[in-house]
Amino acid sequence: MISIAILGHGVVGSGVAEIVLHNQEGVAAKAGDAVQIKRILDLRTFPELPYAHLFTTDFQDILQDEEIRIVVETMGGLHPAYDFVKASLLAGKSVVTSNKELVAAKGDELLAIARENNLNFLFEASVGGGIPILRPLDQCLAANRVLEIAGILNGTTNFMLTKMIQDNMSFADALSLAQQLGYAERDPSADIEGHDACRKICILASLAFGKHVLPEQVHTEGITAVSLTDVQYAAACGGAIKLIGRAVKDETGRLFCQVAPMVVPADSLLAGVNDVFNGIMVRGDSVGDVVFVGRGAGKLPTASAVVADVIDEIRHMAVRKPLFWGPGEEGYVADYRQAAYARLLRFTCEKDAQALVQVGQVFGDVRVLSIPGAPEAELAFIAPALTEEALEAKLASLTGMTLVSGLRMYSA
Ligand code: HSE
Repeated sequence: MISIAILGHGVVGSGVAEIVLHNQEGVAAKAGDAVQIKRILDLRTFPELPYAHLFTTDFQDILQDEEIRIVVETMGGLHPAYDFVKASLLAGKSVVTSNKELVAAKGDELLAIARENNLNFLFEASVGGGIPILRPLDQCLAANRVLEIAGILNGTTNFMLTKMIQDNMSFADALSLAQQLGYAERDPSADIEGHDACRKICILASLAFGKHVLPEQVHTEGITAVSLTDVQYAAACGGAIKLIGRAVKDETGRLFCQVAPMVVPADSLLAGVNDVFNGIMVRGDSVGDVVFVGRGAGKLPTASAVVADVIDEIRHMAVRKPLFWGPGEEGYVADYRQAAYARLLRFTCEKDAQALVQVGQVFGDVRVLSIPGAPEAELAFIAPALTEEALEAKLASLTGMTLVSGLRMYSA
């Protein structure tokens, strides 16, 4: 019998308890030993639950219990989760977490502590919810040099964008529905401003390229400025707007890493990933493109990944998993302003021959877009690939044109 403790009985923690308790036989068969939830840490009480007696508000009840071999952290946030996880590892307990904020900020340190103490620190559920991605990236694709990872990494914003595109739903209504369904973070600004996707691309990039990438090193834009008009122009050029987290090594070895809403072309493997689904494309030098798709948020999908880590840990109690990366460094991530993207640019201006001549002179060949019902004084086109700096210089040289939006075009 292996005893575990769960820190935090929120959406994911309660899902972990539900799976372990309702599927006891299946979990035991896979783990090779029975799994007992011995303690659950939460400041709240849940008297209506059949396992109400397991709750404690004192972390010491877990830390000092030598029978507890695995600590499952599903509290979210950096503190006190970091302090509890670190203390658990130092006390000789392996840790499984779904906490992307923790792994993105402290993954290198916690992996090193786990390694020094011959323990495992596992966090499959921190990226892609129920989708297996970290273990496949680390093990099944191990023979590849990773060239690029690009993903729809946030279920809430993908759900919202899908509702806006397919049902004409407003931004606010789509967000409130995502919250009701338990997809959004406690503070949903982490979803819509891109911070959640940023943490996930940090974890993927750290694992794929071997050094810690910190959220502060990743240029991050959310979807708060995306309008229904942008969605319509994206459709007019045969694409869909998705919040994309991207980490790519260029031919000179520079690592670019950023999060931004991008227009994904219809023939991309990511374009059809809708609703709460996440899609993560990994490009390896030998395997080519591999895409992982599944439910990226929600109680049971995410909890299923946590429980799978618990099972893996029990199976390999005496063995250290290879999952590891080293510390990062300043300047490891290249300046996002040096990355070149084609753009869908939308301006307020007189849409006359003179404006088109000016656009041609400044940007060269562009593809002008039109949508039904567009205002007279609006011009939208796709400009060829430019770095941020080059784009700014061109925009500054325009007269009589005010930029409304400038979405990057994703191209593989
Ligand atoms: N709020 C997150 C999302 C939950 O919507 O993807 C899963 O990390």
